[in-house]
Amino acid sequence: MTTETDPTAYQDEDAVVGDILAASTSDASLARTIARSAQIEAEIDQDASRFRVLTGDRPTGNLHLGHYFGTLRNRVLLQQRGVETFILVADYQVIADRDGVGPIRERVYSLLADYLAVGLDPEATTIFTHSSIPALNQLMLPFLSLVTDSELRRNPTVKAEFEATGGRPMSGLLLTYPVHQAADILFCKANLVPVGKDQVPHLEQARVVARRFDERYGRVDASQPVFPPPEPLLSEAASLLGTDGTKMSKSRGNTIELGMDADTTAKVLKKAVTDADRNITYDPVNRPEVSNLVLLAALASGRTPQDVAAEIGDGGGGALKKVVTEAVNEHFAPIRARRAELAEDQGYLQQVLARGNARATEIAEATLDEVRAAMQMTY
Ligand code: TRP
Repeated sequence: MTTETDPTAYQDEDAVVGDILAASTSDASLARTIARSAQIEAEIDQDASRFRVLTGDRPTGNLHLGHYFGTLRNRVLLQQRGVETFILVADYQVIADRDGVGPIRERVYSLLADYLAVGLDPEATTIFTHSSIPALNQLMLPFLSLVTDSELRRNPTVKAEFEATGGRPMSGLLLTYPVHQAADILFCKANLVPVGKDQVPHLEQARVVARRFDERYGRVDASQPVFPPPEPLLSEAASLLGTDGTKMSKSRGNTIELGMDADTTAKVLKKAVTDADRNITYDPVNRPEVSNLVLLAALASGRTPQDVAAEIGDGGGGALKKVVTEAVNEHFAPIRARRAELAEDQGYLQQVLARGNARATEIAEATLDEVRAAMQMTY
């Protein structure tokens, strides 16, 4: 029997939590998360005010069409459905797995321009930067007391990130970034986090932190814990590959960025990989490259992939590329025009960020006050 006052309690619980995190990516658990996500969608339609969403991106490069069709479009939809949304520009997370910050300032403003260009409205959505919110970051301290190193080492997302760095020693920040991410979510008491499958263990970690805070440090209001347990919202978003049929990533030069112009888009798509069969079909398993282009054309033109493929018929790769290029350039023309205008207006972007940061700071300070009160650290 262990109790929360027993200093060995977490060691005993460790194996269990590590297993829970690993299990959160199992098929059965995923099926449950998917079912719950469908239920949440219905609850949003009934009463959007019950939910607060937090999500975010690392400012490590320009956003591309994979981000757009994968998450950005969904964020705009959630905003339109009346869900209060917080969007974090995770600048502090950039240094978890790399040596420098890169051209961070430029990237933060580029991200901001992307957000606003796709339709995120700064009046409805709070956009803020990690490094500007001291009270959020201070939550790290009590939160770190609630996790163990072996639990973090077993976190599947940390493992994956670590493996991706190719043998580089793991920084303390990389090891603890699920805890930082828990602070990102819990500082504003978000109860909904739109994620992809690979991020589900993070959410589990945030739920563990919320629960343990309650068990170990108690409450301010006896009727409810300081932190509500956040839930993942799994999107069914189609996942786009790069133009060579492999994972879309800037370093492979296979991406189409949101802010690219029409000519550059045409050039990138001209080099896209297809195959020798002139009859275009949508068959992601056997023809990943061709199917990915068909999917992109379908997403950009609001049609089904089967429709797009049937229309091209035996026109071959050349016709397919022409159709994709037109669909992408048409869909993104207004977004790109808006983006170009915004990029010219640094003053406005600065103002949007300052307002978001002020609002996030206010909320983070209120939460930190509650945390201190729960911990009896009010003097
Ligand atoms: N890890 C996310 C990414 O790689 C960014 C992020 C930081 C985030 N904190 C978060 C996402 C909290 C959701 C919730 O882009």
